[in-house]
Amino acid sequence: MELKLSNLNEIDQIAKRIIDYAGDETIWIFEGEMGAGKTTLIKAICRAIGIVDETSSPTFALVNVYENSSKEEFYHFDFFRINDELEALDIGCDEYFYSDRPCFIEWPGKIPRLIPTKNLKISIILDAESNRIVSLSKNE
Ligand SMILES: Nc1ncnc2c1ncn2[C@@H]1O[C@H](COP(=O)(O)OP(=O)(O)OP(=O)(O)O)[C@@H](O)[C@H]1O
Ligand SMILES: [Mg+2]
Repeated sequence: MELKLSNLNEIDQIAKRIIDYAGDETIWIFEGEMGAGKTTLIKAICRAIGIVDETSSPTFALVNVYENSSKEEFYHFDFFRINDELEALDIGCDEYFYSDRPCFIEWPGKIPRLIPTKNLKISIILDAESNRIVSLSKNE
């Protein structure tokens, strides 16, 4: 599925459509170059899900843990700064990935061997008119 995001004010609507498409997938991998809008989209998805914490880009931690009002957890990873897949194993990424709770993952390409093969891929590409083209696909 492909969605076009031409204005930031459409992002909450786009987030809802992504959530509908996702169904019960738990591993959400976000691809797109620096500044493509991965964190911004994850924030919108978190708002739509009803996460109550302020959602910010995980600048210092590889993983940020969020909660909804029922205290259910959601995990947001940013592996941009990682140099070795072992660093991800050290923070216990497998326990999060196989916890059955939603994991939103930026820069999954940094840990290719650790990403579960069953996942939802969300790619963001900027087109010539500065629209964000968001492509969704499921990998089994
Ligand atoms: N859909 C959008 N429309 C307009 N501006 C946007 C959109 N998405 C993101 N931006 C802007 O682009 C900038 C970068 O966004 P963001 O931090 O979400 O990118 P990112 O893909 O997470 O980058 P990084 O790879 O560095 O983590 C921000 O200033 C943000 O406000
Ligand atoms: Mg980001």
